[in-house]
Amino acid sequence: MIQRYRTVAIGLLLASSLAAAQTPYPEDSTYRGLGGKEGIKKIVDTFLTLVLADPRIKDNFADFDIPQINQRLQEQFCEFAGGPCKYTGKYRDKTMDGVGTVRDMKTVHQDLKITNAMFNALTEDLQIAMEQHHVPSGVALKLVARLAPMQRDIVTQ
Ligand code: HEM
Repeated sequence: MIQRYRTVAIGLLLASSLAAAQTPYPEDSTYRGLGGKEGIKKIVDTFLTLVLADPRIKDNFADFDIPQINQRLQEQFCEFAGGPCKYTGKYRDKTMDGVGTVRDMKTVHQDLKITNAMFNALTEDLQIAMEQHHVPSGVALKLVARLAPMQRDIVTQ
């Protein structure tokens, strides 16, 4: 009888540790770490204020629709952080003659002559914005790491 209990107990232990192993790190932990939609809105507002005051990159944004960029960035950061949003950018999955389906970020930035130095300056401004809103550094790094692969599409000079 004792033997039987022991088998059941071991079985339960095994099952629960397997379940633990299969549970991914909560998908939306970065989203929650940023403070959800409200937190992301505050971060993007601060981020764009910093960008528009940053002598290294502010001129790139002259003549562009800043409220529009603000909205799209909020959606994009929310999506990349695992939150319940989708980037609805103006170029998302648009079909262009002779090109086929274009991916958003490349098309958005292709004529802007962006260098690695500019990309790094913008990333720095984002990190400062997150720091100002007390985002834990691990969460901030996660978001930056998820945006980093876009560098290939965005930097053209
Ligand atoms: C991780 C890096 C970056 C991300 C995630 C990002 C993301 C975005 C997003 C989501 C938009 C809005 C597109 C839309 O309206 O659908 C945008 C537009 C824009 N971005 Fe970036 N961007 C990055 C880097 C940069 C850099 C380094 C510059 C220049 C220094 C830049 C300049 C612009 C400009 C000028 C627009 C407006 C384009 C337009 O309305 O046609 N971006 N970006």
